[in-house]
Parts: sequence; structure tokens; C-alpha cells
Amino acid sequence: KQQINIGLCGLGTVGSGVVKILENHQEQIKYKLGCEIRITKILVNDILKKRDVAIDPSVLTTNVDDLIYNDEIDVVVEVMGGIDNTYTILEQAILQKKHIITANKDLMAVSGAQLLQLAKENSCDVFFEASVAGGIPILRSLSDGLASDRIQKMMGIVNGTTNFILTKMTEEQLPFASVLKEAQELGFAESDPTADVEGLDAARKMTLLANLAFKMNIRLEDVETQGITMITEDDLKFANQLGYTIKLIGIAAINDGKVEVGVEPTLLPNDHPLALVKNEYNAVYVYGEAVGETMFYGPGAGSLPTASAIVSDLMAAVKNIRLGVSGNSYISPQYTTQLKDNKE
Ligand code: NDP
Ligand code: HSE
Repeated sequence: KQQINIGLCGLGTVGSGVVKILENHQEQIKYKLGCEIRITKILVNDILKKRDVAIDPSVLTTNVDDLIYNDEIDVVVEVMGGIDNTYTILEQAILQKKHIITANKDLMAVSGAQLLQLAKENSCDVFFEASVAGGIPILRSLSDGLASDRIQKMMGIVNGTTNFILTKMTEEQLPFASVLKEAQELGFAESDPTADVEGLDAARKMTLLANLAFKMNIRLEDVETQGITMITEDDLKFANQLGYTIKLIGIAAINDGKVEVGVEPTLLPNDHPLALVKNEYNAVYVYGEAVGETMFYGPGAGSLPTASAIVSDLMAAVKNIRLGVSGNSYISPQYTTQLKDNKE
């Protein structure tokens, strides 16, 4: 195929970043793939909404069938969010033999295994790098770069919004509500920011990381989760006076076959590597039996960083299409029938 056609679900913060990267980096993408990627249809809520990207209006649609039942479309890129309705869309797309790229951790943390199994049965790929830690290629690093190792522990800052809030509250003494508003305006926060500030978004990401690293079937409800809404400006000030920083930290560790995953605000000494991660940036510390300590750092939210992960996933899917192979998602579809349940 000389051209791969995609259907894009969503043209908000991440979707518009995808459009920009496909446009601005098209020569490099074509050089690396040997073919072009073209956006054939974009699903939105409101066709008349003013956009910050130039789009041919005839590409926009509010009818999902224009993507799913469109024989031209090879890959569906889902960057609209939501769970139940979105699952149905992706399920239908897979049944129509379309490969899936998604940034949707809400959906993947709960129904990822199901979707991967369906994809396997239909010889499709499901890639979801953008769903954890924005622009940091952490899923690919766990599945490829550290494939030979036994991961024992991961610890990290995996939510950009709360890190942005804690940083601004500490360093600029700004109140929680106004910094949250700024994070929303910058496109870091979820459409309902409760998931960010109550720690649920970080819990979803830690679940995805743990399931991938430990080949387990951790359920979201088993993740001990505490957010940052109880943290006051005084807490941050007193911690700082004592030489500490408060960060929302996710931990996942395996011990004797039992995995523990949790998310909670944590006091770190000011010179701890994770204390130095500021604003919307994320970092994930990974300890592997052979490699020892590694650390992955980068922007955890925002339009272009997240879109960079999406388009790289898209390129991986296109390579597979051109090679005539599938099933190369980070969680090999075989795992979906072999995942271990956590020990009681
Ligand atoms: P936005 O709210 O900015 O954009 C959502 C887009 O999806 C909009 O274009 C909207 O249309 C469209 N949309 C939403 N629901 C529907 C629907 N039912 N039917 C048709 N179109 C719909 O979200 P983001 O871009 O911030 O996030 C998208 C996804 O990416 C989410 O899953 C989020 O968790 C994830 N993500 C976001 C990151 C970020 O930094 N923002 C980082 C990593 C992941 P319209 O424009 O017409 O309203
Ligand atoms: N709301 C999320 C965050 C977006 O702030 O980290 C990136 O997943």
C-alpha cells in the first residue's frame, strides 16, 4: 500500500496534536515508512466548533459509522475519551479489521485485556503508549527494551495535572483551585478532573504498567488510591521547611508472585530524583533484576508530547500492515489468555 488511511476519533488537545505532527513531520514519516498516512475522517461532537488546526470540513463527521464501516480506513486512532460507548466503537472497528491506537487509560485499565483478545482473534493490533505518561515511551521500553529482564519494582509520577498543581502550590504559593484551572486550560487535565486529583488516573496508569511489567491481571479496584485533594498549602510549606517535597507517587512491586500497586501523596527528600520532577512532567523509576535501576523522564501530558506517542504507535501499526503481520502490541495477545491473577 502506498497510502495508509486513518480515522481519527477526537480533535481536542491530543487529536489536534496528531493532525499537526502528521502534517509537520510528514516527510520524515514517509521516509521511515515508505508510504503516506492520510486522515480520511475525523469524528467530533460539534462540526461547527472553531479548531486550532486547518481541516477540510468535509473530513469531519459526527457519525461514527463513517469511520467504522469505511473500507478505506486501515487504522482507527481513538483520542476522544470515555469508556462504554468508546469500547463499543473500538470493538466494532476491530470486527471490521481495523487496527487501533488509543490514549485511553480509563478504558484500557478496565477492558484492555478484553480488547486485546478481540484484536488477536481478528488479527489486529492495539497500541496504547499514549495512555501512560504522555510522551515517555514507557510501555515500549518495558515490553521491548527490558523484555529480557524480570521487573521487580516501579515507582513514579504518572499524572501531569497533580504534579503541575503540587509544583505551583509549592513554588509559587498559588491556591489549588486556580492551578487546577490553569492545568485544565493547558489541556493537561481530564474532562472530569476528579480522576486526576483523586488519584484515579494515576491508579489506572499504574495498573497498566503493573500488568505489562509483571504479566498480571491486576484489577483497578485492588489499587490502594489516595489523591491530593487533602493536601493543603500549609502541608507543602511545612514539608518544604523540613527539606521535603510532597509528590503523588505510584508504586507497583512484585514479591513472591504477589503484586502490590498503590498511589498516594508521599514525602520525598528535596534531592530525591522524583522530587526534582516538576510541573506536568512525569518520571518512572524501574528496577529490573538484571538491569538494576533505570529512570524514564519526560512530559506526561499535553498536546504534542501525547500526540508524539500516538503517531509513533501509528507508525508501528503501519509497519505491521505493510509487513502483513499483526499481534505485535506491547502486551502480546497471547498474554491475554495467560495472565496470572494476583495471589490473595
Ligand atoms: P479533549 O476533551 O480535548 O478532546 C476530546 C475530543 O473528542 C473532542 O474533539 C470532542 O469533540 C471529541 N469527542 C468526545 N466525545 C465524543 C463523542 N461521544 N463523539 C464524538 N466526538 C467526541 O480530550 P483530550 O484530547 O485531552 O483527551 C483525549 C483522550 O486522550 C482521553 O482519553 C484522555 O484521557 C487521553 N489523554 C489525554 C492527554 C492530555 O494531555 N490531554 C494525555 C494522555 C492521554 P469536539 O471537539 O467536537 O467537542
Ligand atoms: N490528565 C492526565 C494527566 C493526562 O494529567 O496526567 C495524561 O494522561
